[in-house]
Amino acid sequence: MQNFKKIVSEKVLAAIEANFGETTITANELAQMLEYPPDTTMGDVALPCFKLSRSLRRSPVQIAQTIANALEDASIKHAEAVNGYLNISISDEYLSSIINTEVLVKGDKYGSATFGEGKTVVLDYSSPNVAKPFHIGHLGTTVIGHSLKKLHEFVGYDCVGINYLGDWGTQFGKMIVAYKMWGDRDAINAGGIDKLVELYVKFHHAAEENPALNDEARAEFHKLELGDEENISLWKWFIEISIAEYKKTYAQLGIEFDSYKGESFYTDKMPAQVQKLRDMNLLKIDDGASIVDLEEYNMPPCLILKRDGSTLYPTRDIAAAVYRKQEYNFDKAIYVTSAGQSLHFAQWFKVVELMGYDWHDKLVHVPYGTVSINGAKLATRTGNVILLKDLFAQAIDKVSDIMEEKNPNLENKAAVAEAVGVGAIVFYYLSSNRIRDINFVLEDALSFDGNTGPYVQYTYARTCSLLERANEIKLPENCVFTSNDERELVKTLARFPEKVLEAIDAYEPSVVTRYILDVATAFNRFYHNCQILSAADSEVVATRIALTKATNYVLGNAFELICLKKTAKI
Ligand code: ARG
Repeated sequence: MQNFKKIVSEKVLAAIEANFGETTITANELAQMLEYPPDTTMGDVALPCFKLSRSLRRSPVQIAQTIANALEDASIKHAEAVNGYLNISISDEYLSSIINTEVLVKGDKYGSATFGEGKTVVLDYSSPNVAKPFHIGHLGTTVIGHSLKKLHEFVGYDCVGINYLGDWGTQFGKMIVAYKMWGDRDAINAGGIDKLVELYVKFHHAAEENPALNDEARAEFHKLELGDEENISLWKWFIEISIAEYKKTYAQLGIEFDSYKGESFYTDKMPAQVQKLRDMNLLKIDDGASIVDLEEYNMPPCLILKRDGSTLYPTRDIAAAVYRKQEYNFDKAIYVTSAGQSLHFAQWFKVVELMGYDWHDKLVHVPYGTVSINGAKLATRTGNVILLKDLFAQAIDKVSDIMEEKNPNLENKAAVAEAVGVGAIVFYYLSSNRIRDINFVLEDALSFDGNTGPYVQYTYARTCSLLERANEIKLPENCVFTSNDERELVKTLARFPEKVLEAIDAYEPSVVTRYILDVATAFNRFYHNCQILSAADSEVVATRIALTKATNYVLGNAFELICLKKTAKI
């Protein structure tokens, strides 16, 4: 990967070696020390030389000055020592080469890498509980999970996206009781998952009045466990209906899963793990239940078997991880869930370690904060929830209205409204660090002016329309920059590969989202201040078209990474 930090760090290292002799400092370490100054009039990259004082046994001022004197060549326009900082400006020639030999050559591969090749990453995300509502609380796991998948694919990993459906448990007993009392097959076939959720909610209201219903539900679930034919077929049907609905939402987001193996799949895989725990003397009986004591690790015990011998959520996760290791031989297994489950993951990861599985350190939990809408939180049991599909539908509706005003003759209006409406939600959600709690304000998310999805999609469409009009014009051999807006745009585009790595290292798609905003802002500034197709000089026109094309690639590639659809016209 070629970028400023890399190229500068290599040159700085050469300067250090030439002036101070052999050193143990590596170019990589230097690259880590480099900073991007907020005010680029000072320089494009800066090296705080106090970080080198110790190893070079010189003062920062002396180091900065010595390296500054040594650095004068084609890529580096200007190097200056200021108060122990080395400020470096990049030459136009190098900026031009970024466009011509990097972005435009690599195109839709620009920003990607190959270091993941030959390795597999398994991602467990979305994973809703069947028959319970697929609500806005699932937005996080769904879009963060998918972005992480795209990011890992972009750097070469083979990725397996797993939807670990909550397709087993006492809620099915409840559903079966409710269905047998009030269900109507045709209505459910026609009304889909909403009808199932209605039954679920109705059951909870009824059970408040009549707690005996809970016993009935347990009995029906037990029958299901024993393989009762009627219950099995109801259970399968509930799942089928639910998956069909989830897939509609996934399609709006451009998400496909490689596996839908849910919790039920692991029923027959748990006993072997329980036995192993027992053989290793890791199980303790506590009030009749089997647990793994984690006091030593400052955690409450991990529950493996209930008093009646039935398995629990951690038991299934352990069995599933062992299965996935065998099936995919993963290099990393990523689990994306709300932060509310952090303890659960910490506990069973520890149990896997105690069981002696040497891949325990390849398990990664990626937590995220809560979501509310206009301050309202969720409550599944009372039915007081906002469904993801309803949120999307609302956004699509509002975007349709806006588009009707802005661009009534647009072709494919419905598809564009869907891409922009859903994109607005995704973008808004992925704009903040995942661990922060988010309060959705729909008007803000949908605005075409703020730092929003519609704004960046509009910017992308603007690049497309310029390129369409520029069709005949030849790209330049070398870019000729005549304004700082152009240079700033190139520098922003040059950071894409670093941003991809940063997002992967921190499991943080918001790094990409915020980067997209930087690109959109830099491009729009350039667009407003520089004539593109009508500039007087043909070299200048060619350069500006090249910049537009490069922006188009970078935005497009980055959109792909965060589940944002590319729309050529809005
Ligand atoms: N079904 C769970 C829920 O909705 C999430 C599952 C997360 N994945 C896992 N392997 N535990 O809360």
